[in-house]
Amino acid sequence: MLAGALLHVSVCSCCCVFSGDLLVLTVATQETDGFRRFLRSAKHFNYTIKVRRLFYSGGQKVRLLKSALEDIQDENRVILLVDSYDVIFSSGPRELLKKFQQAKHRVVFSAETLIWPDRHLEDKHPHVREGKRFLGAGGFIGYAPNLKQMLSDWSGADSDSDQLFFTKLYINPEKRKSINITLDNKCRLFQNLHGALDEVVLKFEDGRVRARNVLYNTLPVIIHGNGPTKLQINYLGNYIPHLWMFETGCTLCNEGLRPLSGLQVGLTEYPVVVIGIFIQQPTPFVSVFFERLLNLKYPKNRLRLFIYNQELHHEPHIRTFLEYHESEYQDVKLIGPEEDIDPVTSRNIGFDMCRDDIDCEYFFSIDVDVVLKNEDMLRILIELNKPFIAPMMTKPGRLWTNFWGALSADGYYARSEDYMDIVKGRRMGLWNVPYVSHIFLIKADTLRTDLKDPDLFESATLDPDMAFCSKVRNKGVFMFVTNMHTFGRVLSTENYQTNHLHNDLWQIFENPEWEERYIHENYSKVLRDGLIEMPCPDVYWFPVFTDVACKHLIEEMEHFGQWSGGRNVDKRILGGYENVPTVDIHMNQVGYDKEWQKFLLDYAAPVTEKMYPGYYTMAQFDLAFVVRYKPDEQPALRPHHDASTFTINIALNQVGIDYQGGGCRFLRYNCSVNAPRRGWALLHPGRLTHYHEGLPTIEGVRYISVSFVDP
Ligand SMILES: *[C@@H]1O[C@H](CO)[C@@H](O)[C@H](O)[C@H]1NC(C)=O
Ligand SMILES: *[C@@H]1O[C@H](CO)[C@@H](O)[C@H](O)[C@H]1NC(C)=O
Ligand SMILES: *[C@@H]1O[C@H](CO)[C@@H](O)[C@H](O)[C@H]1NC(C)=O
Ligand SMILES: *[C@@H]1O[C@H](CO)[C@@H](O)[C@H](O)[C@H]1NC(C)=O
Repeated sequence: MLAGALLHVSVCSCCCVFSGDLLVLTVATQETDGFRRFLRSAKHFNYTIKVRRLFYSGGQKVRLLKSALEDIQDENRVILLVDSYDVIFSSGPRELLKKFQQAKHRVVFSAETLIWPDRHLEDKHPHVREGKRFLGAGGFIGYAPNLKQMLSDWSGADSDSDQLFFTKLYINPEKRKSINITLDNKCRLFQNLHGALDEVVLKFEDGRVRARNVLYNTLPVIIHGNGPTKLQINYLGNYIPHLWMFETGCTLCNEGLRPLSGLQVGLTEYPVVVIGIFIQQPTPFVSVFFERLLNLKYPKNRLRLFIYNQELHHEPHIRTFLEYHESEYQDVKLIGPEEDIDPVTSRNIGFDMCRDDIDCEYFFSIDVDVVLKNEDMLRILIELNKPFIAPMMTKPGRLWTNFWGALSADGYYARSEDYMDIVKGRRMGLWNVPYVSHIFLIKADTLRTDLKDPDLFESATLDPDMAFCSKVRNKGVFMFVTNMHTFGRVLSTENYQTNHLHNDLWQIFENPEWEERYIHENYSKVLRDGLIEMPCPDVYWFPVFTDVACKHLIEEMEHFGQWSGGRNVDKRILGGYENVPTVDIHMNQVGYDKEWQKFLLDYAAPVTEKMYPGYYTMAQFDLAFVVRYKPDEQPALRPHHDASTFTINIALNQVGIDYQGGGCRFLRYNCSVNAPRRGWALLHPGRLTHYHEGLPTIEGVRYISVSFVDP
């Protein structure tokens, strides 16, 4: 597509000198995000816009300008010529014209610190006492007759350099005088960012935001991210003009939305989305990932899934999910480890699944280590209606996020000035950033046009994720990240091991997801609201484990399988002799002792300290184990004291369903807990007063987890 714009600006109320119109000419070949940003900034200042076709490439721009000027007869007409993709207006036509007038010349060019393209012409440039010495062709303003005169010499080819042409006119003293050209040395009208990054800062004042040149103390009207400063113009363009300000917050966030709220679930009005799910390394909580995916509020018959899994270890998790839910989705395509397809190829296959389906409107890419905490996420992202958008994801307790605010010189991570404010939510909005990872939504149209290349992830030097972002940037697609809502977080995969059945149990040190998965939803009420019972004297009873935790612990022990014989001789313990043996497996036999201590310290110790005031514990133990009671194995346990200061006894399955009988009786009080609740812990003193017995299990199998704390 070929597009371009001729901005036609009426400035009737402008100052005395300019009764005529200001005409803004720009060049663009495509409606890129940068072009839309330019138009938006022009509209914001009420520049009236007429669209006209123009091409762009150096000399061609000059030729087209020359022909555009031929139609203009008005002697007082002022023409502004600027690039578009990398240009934003930071103020309106009044200020522009006033400053032009103050420059006291008929033609004013933007100025540059660096000379280009011909360094040998340096000495021919007039000296300046202060300010920039060299001409920049990306922006200039002048009266029509003078511009016509200036262009009358043009006879170059479309491929010639416009910059060199204008420079040669400028360094020619006669031409300079007769056309009456000067440079905007101190960036009062034009700020070229190349070679000037240290000079420019954002300035928030009086309900406005603009760029300030701190070297010359000026407020340029037009900001141009020329040369290699696209990231800086993107950064400034997150604020200027009036996109984000302290007073208003994000104004861009309410523009050009695509509302979904009126649509009826179940009808075919919802856009079809291909969700690409990428499993490229052993990752904790993959089953939870699929549970959360299932909970996304979006009609599943409008979703197609592409699942790429490189890990044998995760096949059961995917199988379980598909077994129950595959038919709810419009389509599911799975690539498993046996297909031996590399990650980069898989990304392309995923993109193609959307590109090749004419109904597909979005591709939603999600790495499996993303925790989808916000069920409205997909709807929110679609409604924001951007070609490329990512929800901000965090890691708890760290400044890590799935976006970079800036890039270092060699293309790696750098922290932008506003990064902390965005991460901490002090600035909420939509941010055009140089890098995002883990999760993003792309419009299918963008995948079919700007991002249609099959080598988006390939690079000789960069990792695939960085190569991808670099390509997206170079194609002129803005990568927006939004922190308007809390969306979720990214799991730590660092210390994830796969040698157990339920490896997620071992994640207590690594991921807060552990608590959500395994700690009872009402545990928080134990101390806060006193959700704690006392079924027998000094015996406390409170919820601590979820059903899943109980199930996983039992299955882990059965998977390990080395149940003790319940005999007195026991090589596992100090002294080798157990007075009151049970059929059990110790936590340290399955390598779970450190994790178990952390669990006791975090979740049992606070209750102990509350119920037995003045006693503090580090939750040390020699013995913590899961006991199995079975009628034909060991159904009960005779009265005994525990080798502990206090004991934590958690019921892992359900009386009446999994087994009959069971329970615990404290002899001194003739008091029994007969109906243990799954996931609830009994906390009682170990010695002296709380002599107790395990009541017989008469049917089924009963499991409890017992810890002798502070022996
Ligand atoms: C643009 O025009 C509108 C409507 O005439 C006006 O409300 C607004 O203040 C103008 N904006 C600027 C920046 O002049
Ligand atoms: C340039 O134009 C200005 C204003 O029109 C005029 O005052 C000035 O003398 C001119 N300069 C030259 C060198 O002709
Ligand atoms: C948590 O407490 C609420 C309110 O008492 C109850 O309805 C809910 O079932 C409890 N949750 C569990 C898992 O027992
Ligand atoms: C113990 O309690 C049970 C039932 O509550 C009761 O039947 C029994 O008589 C009590 N035994 C003693 C010694 O008090």
